[in-house]
Amino acid sequence: MCGIIGAVGRGDATLDTLLAGLSNLEYRGYDSAGLAVSGEELSVAKRSGELEVLEDALEGQSLSGNAGIGHTRWSTHGAPTDANAHPHTDCTDSVAVVHNGIIENYQSLRDELAAAGHEFKSETDTEVVPHLIESLLADGASPGTAFRQAVDRVEGSYAIAAVFAGSDTVFAARNDSPLVLGVGDDATYLGSDVPAFLEFTDRVVYLEDGEVAELSPAGWTVTTLAGDPVEKEIRTVDWESEDTGKSGYDHYMLKEIHEQPRALRQCLQERVNELAGTVDLGDAVNETLRGVDDVQLVACGTSYHAALYAAELFRSQGVRAQAFVASEYVTSPAPHGENTLVIGITQSGETADTLSALRDAQRRGVETLAVTNVVGSTAARECDGVLYIRSGPEIGVAATKTFSAQVVAANLVAAVMANGDTSHEFVSALRDLPGQVQTVLEETNAEAVADRFVDADAYFFIGRGYDYPVAMEGALKMKEITYKHAEGFPAGELKHGPLALVTGNTPVFAVVTGETGSEKTVGNVKEVEARNAPVVAVTDGRTDVERYADEVLEVPETDPRLAPVLANVQLQLVSYHVAKQLGRSIDKPRNLAKSVTVE
Ligand code: M6R
Repeated sequence: MCGIIGAVGRGDATLDTLLAGLSNLEYRGYDSAGLAVSGEELSVAKRSGELEVLEDALEGQSLSGNAGIGHTRWSTHGAPTDANAHPHTDCTDSVAVVHNGIIENYQSLRDELAAAGHEFKSETDTEVVPHLIESLLADGASPGTAFRQAVDRVEGSYAIAAVFAGSDTVFAARNDSPLVLGVGDDATYLGSDVPAFLEFTDRVVYLEDGEVAELSPAGWTVTTLAGDPVEKEIRTVDWESEDTGKSGYDHYMLKEIHEQPRALRQCLQERVNELAGTVDLGDAVNETLRGVDDVQLVACGTSYHAALYAAELFRSQGVRAQAFVASEYVTSPAPHGENTLVIGITQSGETADTLSALRDAQRRGVETLAVTNVVGSTAARECDGVLYIRSGPEIGVAATKTFSAQVVAANLVAAVMANGDTSHEFVSALRDLPGQVQTVLEETNAEAVADRFVDADAYFFIGRGYDYPVAMEGALKMKEITYKHAEGFPAGELKHGPLALVTGNTPVFAVVTGETGSEKTVGNVKEVEARNAPVVAVTDGRTDVERYADEVLEVPETDPRLAPVLANVQLQLVSYHVAKQLGRSIDKPRNLAKSVTVE
């Protein structure tokens, strides 16, 4: 998704600061990049393609100025061309604008501005903003007033920032698209997320919808669109800048897979009491969960698979629970009762579909809880309660450590819904889980399995019960980073259609852990084997599925509720190694974005 960086007060380092910020935003996925630096003159550079193309174009140029904005674009309106890349400027090149989101009324604004003589250089919705500002400046408005009045005319979702020729002030505003200020000692930053400027400062101010920030060398202020001052709290984020590096791994994805033991320990820390066998998520979350008898989980992608798992878990202890793909929940909201809780599971806390579903629930008067990784994210701020999964920054587009932490967090929620009491055995199984993940990481034969099946026509994944979300997640990971056909099915569904796809060159990954239904999955494995498909069993050894498997990915035995985490780590590694062999862009797969902020 698109990304924004801004900086004021960096003097001669403005250009380098913006380039560093753009590099930090690369993980979100993009197809063009650009920046504008404002000093006596306004200089703009933008190119389609990788950031390197822009850097090459800037070689030997020293864009000078004390204020600037930069943008990574993920195309929505218009192809990824130089002209469509941000920043966009007005007819006189006196204002440059970057924008994330979608301007819904851009066509009528564009028609109006074109009729008044404005000439457009791009196909984007964004370009109406600099032209609107230009016309307001021409009517005598100051830059700040022109910015506010222009933003006021825009309908849709946006995070917008603008710089003006001859000025070292950056203006920014948001509606339904994240924007955060970074407060440094001598400079102020702007980002669509914290990692954009984390290497410069960890002190942040989150903007809310309808607020306007003004960043100048004298400091920063936040006001409403009407200009009334707003008091904002400066928060310190506990992520280290080094957390956003690769630490010697070839890819962020591999690094994040290996960070899972630490992520799980952080998720559990101070929340489980081993001696007492209890779980405590803090008064606020405990209170949110009290008396809940119906849970609706809304999420997308990998987080949806965690939601599927959580629904199964909650049902197993007698709570009515269902997982919904967030975009479908908005289209067809589920009926709710007095004690319904809607839980949004979202790593980023910024996924537009999930936010929409949560807002829809709130409009209908239903209580909401965000389970998220990003402190201060929109989901965290808007929901009635928030449970942080504490995984640290996840940069790879493919979600890995956050899925595992979401599954563990679901177990903590389940325990609190059961009044905080759980068995000593289960609490020690939770405590042992990070170490068992470490064992899987050290002893895995996933690379050999990947080598053997790298040329397969397609990959199928089956499982039932808690293993079903793992099968779905295994397939999603495989398709998103290898670009090969992969599907996950409930093991029992295979014979109702998908079996027709199974051939000698379509390996079937059978996730067989725990006891419930495992024997039946072994039966499904035999059906596959009879059709000559290679079978890879991902198993904790509780059944004799190995007898029918061509390859085995073993996981240590644990409580059946936790085995899916271990099985999933094996599948993450298989996908990673297949993608690596195929030379794919593992951390930034084609067409995908880390944070999907449009519906
Ligand atoms: O930030 P979220 O958890 O809300 O993101 C939801 C999905 O976009 C995300 O899980 C996506 O499916 C991942 N790329 C999967 O690896």
